[in-house]
Amino acid sequence: MSEQIRVGLDERSYTIHVGSRLLERTGALVAQFAHGLVPVVTDRHVAQFHLEPVAASLRAAGLNPEPIVLEPGEGTKRFAELERLLDTLLDSGLDREGFIVALGGGVIGDIAGFAAAVLKRGISWAQVPTTLLAQVDSSVGGKTAINTRQGKNLVGVFHQPRIVIADIDVLRTLPRRELLSGYAEIAKYGALGDAEFFAWLEVCANAALAGGAEKRLYMVARSCRMKAEIVGRDERESGERALLNLGHTFAHALEAATGYSDRLLHGEAVAIGMVLAFRLSAELGLAPASDCERLKRHLSAVSLPVGLADVPGERPDAETLIGHMMQDKKAKDGKLTFILARGLGRAFIAPDVPIGAVRAVLTA
Ligand SMILES: NC(=O)c1ccc[n+]([C@@H]2O[C@H](COP(=O)([O-])OP(=O)(O)OC[C@H]3O[C@@H](n4cnc5c(N)ncnc54)[C@H](O)[C@@H]3O)[C@@H](O)[C@H]2O)c1
Ligand SMILES: [Zn+2]
Repeated sequence: MSEQIRVGLDERSYTIHVGSRLLERTGALVAQFAHGLVPVVTDRHVAQFHLEPVAASLRAAGLNPEPIVLEPGEGTKRFAELERLLDTLLDSGLDREGFIVALGGGVIGDIAGFAAAVLKRGISWAQVPTTLLAQVDSSVGGKTAINTRQGKNLVGVFHQPRIVIADIDVLRTLPRRELLSGYAEIAKYGALGDAEFFAWLEVCANAALAGGAEKRLYMVARSCRMKAEIVGRDERESGERALLNLGHTFAHALEAATGYSDRLLHGEAVAIGMVLAFRLSAELGLAPASDCERLKRHLSAVSLPVGLADVPGERPDAETLIGHMMQDKKAKDGKLTFILARGLGRAFIAPDVPIGAVRAVLTA
């Protein structure tokens, strides 16, 4: 059971494979791109469950896998770790025709992809995403980055992989909270541009999240297809790709206000952020308030947080959040750009949103 989705980017085009029992086919799928030594960059959690099947399949394809196991967590996406990873890769004797496999969530995809981009001015790589977030979002589109003390993802490049292998079976070992956090990005695709998908999710999401393989495959593949299409039209985010940031201006402020801690995972922040973006749209008379309620009801139904009151601990303060948003947007002439919506499935880029309306939504 698998589906293939093409990311159309001329000579940088590639295929996303989504399905069951794909890890054991990794070797066969990457054999056309790789030869000899194949470093497999992963983290300790993922290695524990999923490294061996990947390594075995690479060996079966006549390749020589070399695991490089990093510490799990966002803290790994930093210069010191990148340097160490590049050192290890160079010491392994990887040449310009080398090929690496990134096996893990968004953290591993981002740092291993960045390493592949700069090593010998760019080598080929495969993404084998193991979180729901990575399968539907971070593994598609070629963005790679690390964090600096100034903020998240501030140093990075675009470097498309040669292939993406998203095995939905690996999600079985993913903690429930991480699964739900990734689901927020799936709901996002429906909310921003596909009302029919959103309606399907309202009926089927809980079954898909509970492990129903057919529905899970459908949900992941449809999300990948939507991101792939948007990336195919706007690889460098000069326009349409920005729609993928629905809920993210609020989410980034919430993540900053909660110190990027376990208090709020990225997808949880995105869930709250999407509801706020729809409320802001309603406040500005752009979208019916009933669509905001519908979004909120759905996210609640899958047990995602939907409002500032759902953030554990002290409720984030409106002025602090606005401060973070202003800082985030300084690069854009001091104007607040939001992704707003005219209704479910109808998001658009609003470049000049009055701060008063944002404040009203945050203090409501
Ligand atoms: N490049 C992009 O376009 C893009 C897009 C969105 C997010 N991101 C980045 O992605 C990162 C977040 O990614 P994430 O949410 O996947 O987090 P993550 O990579 O930190 O993974 C979350 C946790 O799950 C564990 N894990 C991963 N797969 C597992 C599995 N199958 N079973 C058990 N445990 C597993 C990891 O070890 C980690 O502890 C952030 O750094 C973000 O900036 C990048
Ligand atoms: Zn996101």
